[in-house]
Amino acid sequence: MYDYDLLVVGSANADLVIRVERRPAAGETVLGSDLAVHPGGKGANQAVAAGRLGARTALLARVGDDGHGRLLLDSQRAAGVDTVGVLVGGAPTGIALITVDPSGDNSIVVSPGANGRLTPEDVRAAGSLFHASRVVSAQLEIPLDTVVEVVRNLAAGSRFVLNPSPPRPLPAEVLAACDPLIVNEHEARVIVGTALGDSPEDWAAALLALGPRSVVITLGADGALVAERAGARVRIPSVKVEAVDTTGAGDAFTAALAWRLGRRESLAEAAAYAARVGAVAVTRPGAQESFPTAEEVAALSGVLPGDDPATTGRKGGSEGLAGEPLRGESR
Ligand code: RIB
Repeated sequence: MYDYDLLVVGSANADLVIRVERRPAAGETVLGSDLAVHPGGKGANQAVAAGRLGARTALLARVGDDGHGRLLLDSQRAAGVDTVGVLVGGAPTGIALITVDPSGDNSIVVSPGANGRLTPEDVRAAGSLFHASRVVSAQLEIPLDTVVEVVRNLAAGSRFVLNPSPPRPLPAEVLAACDPLIVNEHEARVIVGTALGDSPEDWAAALLALGPRSVVITLGADGALVAERAGARVRIPSVKVEAVDTTGAGDAFTAALAWRLGRRESLAEAAAYAARVGAVAVTRPGAQESFPTAEEVAALSGVLPGDDPATTGRKGGSEGLAGEPLRGESR
């Protein structure tokens, strides 16, 4: 029996967000909205997303001993996340400078700050969290050495999910532990390091050849593709909604998928659920503030928790919704 459905090891940032009519090109200055400060960071976002869905979640991260660090801790606790693994001090809290355009797309620059001080030793010291967690997820806004140590500390029988964002080439030891590796096209190109081939099925084959047990490729308007080493390739349709802000939607997708895998759903089932979570997230501004509860996800598909679609007549799944889907670069 595990104490946690999901342990997230990753970054926590204060997101400094400005809405702009157009994201600036090189050498260009544009005027934007008033500044908004939100709790963010790919790791902290995943933990809040899972906690809000009802997953028993813990976060292993590092924040500064400052106001941004307190903002992040408050947000985790409000979502029911166990912050026993959140270390404080060593550097200022990480910062993400984010511009969001009217289509909801964003550009992000991250100053890692304390995230860069989350060390392999911190991972080793958190051994009890690893032993208590059914699924462990990570991203790449913390040092790669730390992610390597994460895979070395996985408990027997636990499952590892990696979103390699921002992407970089990965050691074979990390790739071999991924089940799944979750990437968009850009991340896939960086991980594979050579020409990708024409179709997402080709990309999945190239990624699987590097060692992960399974792969999820997010395809924006075209949904996602899931592929297992020994299984079929399954296309997951996108969920049509009106996008307001894609920030953090990829993190919500990853967290939801990781949680549902821990509930023994198939990769395709978990990805279909995660697509609905990401779709709700893009309809609202900000990252963590935009993440839905399980009830809100159910409402999107017209099925409430506990309902049997066969008897209510309500329509489940992702068909028949209009608007903008989960976007590929929404992290
Ligand atoms: O994935 C979105 C996140 O990326 C933002 O919250 C920002 O902090 C950056 O880490």
